[in-house]
Amino acid sequence: PIAMIIDADTGIDDSLAILYAVKSPRISLETVCTVFGNIDVDQATDNTLRLLKLAGTEGSVGVVKGANKALRREFPGSKSDVHGENGIGGAVIPPSDQLPTGETAADYYVRVANDRPGELTLVLMGRMTNLALALEKDPSIATKFRSVVVMGGNVLVPGNITPVAEANFWGDPEAAQVLMETEGLPLTVVGLDVTMEALLTRNDLDELELSCREENKPAVAFLKDCFAVYFDFYGMVNKLDNACPMHDPLAVIAAVRPELVGCRTLHASISCGDSLTAGMVVTDRRVIPSVGHPVSFALEVDAPAAMEELFSVFK
Ligand code: BDR
Ligand code: CA
Repeated sequence: PIAMIIDADTGIDDSLAILYAVKSPRISLETVCTVFGNIDVDQATDNTLRLLKLAGTEGSVGVVKGANKALRREFPGSKSDVHGENGIGGAVIPPSDQLPTGETAADYYVRVANDRPGELTLVLMGRMTNLALALEKDPSIATKFRSVVVMGGNVLVPGNITPVAEANFWGDPEAAQVLMETEGLPLTVVGLDVTMEALLTRNDLDELELSCREENKPAVAFLKDCFAVYFDFYGMVNKLDNACPMHDPLAVIAAVRPELVGCRTLHASISCGDSLTAGMVVTDRRVIPSVGHPVSFALEVDAPAAMEELFSVFK
């Protein structure tokens, strides 16, 4: 299995992505680092600890607390209307005795990348702040990850927080830009171009409840509980019919089944500053690009196969 670290602002779709990673035989999930975003970092950390307990990991997955604010700007505020007040749609799950390790996420990345060069796959599903801080501390770690997959941004489709920006890039544009311009970082960007294609329906969850293995019943019951808010939100805002996009789960799936996404390398940079375009991915698609750095973007997805992959770990 692929040795994986997840970096999450543990909200609703993050929770499903983490459960998938815990249950997938393709993945050996070592650590979840937390970051502000959907909620603040303390809530994200608490949600993560509770979720890992619910998933039955019994302390085998470490939790490392990360940044609570963006690299160079004030926290622009979370969108609690998307993920509910506690980030998990108001769902209540029992607390865990496990504590986060004392290290910061940035220090942790620097340490593990240097200790185990080429071994670790990193999937970022919130603001890119923790990895950006680590790269600023020790730029040599850029080439020491096996792969770095991030959920963020949009190239050909509209944004979801502003007309042009996606939440994870909008919430810390400077951090996203650090990743874009770091040479040698094995980066793949899984953004709204593909995540808005991979839809989970209410019906899917009802069916999963009936078809899942006995040991996964508590996890699926939790998912049904917290996703109710997410279906309502996407119904209202995106006019989806009892369906919602699999943003973060698709990033994890792309990390282990890269053949399910079609990628294209584009020269890209992130719009920083406070203008209307903050957090926007600007790609130079001219014949001879001269702005930005070459980055691999997922622009196509085999959505039915990705959804099948997601469900398979619960059945
Ligand atoms: C991203 O923003 C968050 O709300 C989701 O968890 C996902 O990481 C989608 O834009
Ligand atoms: Ca997220």
